[in-house]
Amino acid sequence: MTIEQSPITNLPAFAKAMAGKQSTNHLFLRAALGETTERPPVWLMRQAGRILPQYRALRQRFPDFKAFVKTPEAAAEATLQPVDELGVDAAIVFSDILVIPEAMGLDYEMIEAKGPRFPKTIENQQDVDRLRSGVEAATALQYVYDALQISKSALAGRVPLIGFAGAPWTILAYMVEGSGSKTFSKARRLLYTNPGLSHELLQKITDTTIAYLRNQVAAGADLLQLFDSWAGELPPAHYRAFAVPYLRQICEALPQVPKTVFAKGAWFALEDLAELPCQVIGLDWNIAPAFAKEKTGGAKVLQGNLDPCTLYADTKTIEKETVAMLRAFGGHHIANLGHGVYPDTPLDGVRAFVNTVKNS
Ligand code: CP3
Repeated sequence: MTIEQSPITNLPAFAKAMAGKQSTNHLFLRAALGETTERPPVWLMRQAGRILPQYRALRQRFPDFKAFVKTPEAAAEATLQPVDELGVDAAIVFSDILVIPEAMGLDYEMIEAKGPRFPKTIENQQDVDRLRSGVEAATALQYVYDALQISKSALAGRVPLIGFAGAPWTILAYMVEGSGSKTFSKARRLLYTNPGLSHELLQKITDTTIAYLRNQVAAGADLLQLFDSWAGELPPAHYRAFAVPYLRQICEALPQVPKTVFAKGAWFALEDLAELPCQVIGLDWNIAPAFAKEKTGGAKVLQGNLDPCTLYADTKTIEKETVAMLRAFGGHHIANLGHGVYPDTPLDGVRAFVNTVKNS
């Protein structure tokens, strides 16, 4: 089947553009567009990072994570490392979802071995009013566009380049909580106590994310992934009211490239997600492939969803579990883990996973 005939996408302009590209490995984009491929493509969420010794060496050159992210040449190097070392079928630009709150005027710190922290959080109308948004906020992220551009030319078409952003609900959660959280009760509480303010904040984040992702596409991103890491914290009605409409706005604003929505923990929202104008739905490891196929009705390509902890097992177990997962999806599938790879995962385990998919 050619891309133009693909049943689940309508991206003729994109297909035409791809035909002229020198990319030697189109597998990931072909699969994302719904084509039946000779084998599933494979990449790992958080593949650019601490699992690689060459990442840890590069990281030592910088006083902190943010300085690293803001140095485009270094970010591009980190982007290419997993392609060189593991032979994955896609690169993902090295950055973080938290650059959006920062560009909007809410500064964060990345605390070693602990995670992000926002010294000032969003509490009231005045805090929301003060935030920059849209095109103006997105101009502060030139370093990400530069990293994409450098990565794209360094890749020289070897594999496609993924751009990304956090989904609005997940970004709101960080801006209101000020860090990760066991319950996200401050962020969830805001949706009940001040729905109007919640929507205002979500709209500002959405406007900024759209401008940001448009610039990412202009800088060379071939596909965009939205990370809704805290989707599973919301009750279904709230996910439908406070998350899905903003995901829809973002998907609709970016018709030029295929899009993946990864909503962790949102098994309850699969039917809603299946109606979004995106091509790929990312799945976490709690979702059985058959359940996801049924709920999405074959409308989407599915990405995922091996438990990241599988990769701590011996090679035989990893091979067996990976093959079982590939069989359960049985096509229209992009192989990945069900969440980002954990930083202390043995590299041999990661290799066993990637190679099992590539030899399938
Ligand atoms: O996928 C990739 O390889 C590209 C780079 C990437 C990073 N963060 C680099 C990073 C991507 C796509 C992200 C997304 C991200 N960041 C998410 C969504 C995905 C998910 O995991 O749910 C979230 C929630 C964040 C926020 C974030 N950034 C946290 C909670 C942390 C601390 C936890 C941790 O892993 O250390 C980060 C830091 C971070 N982002 C690191 C990397 C490589 C570690 C920084 C270091 O080198 O010490």
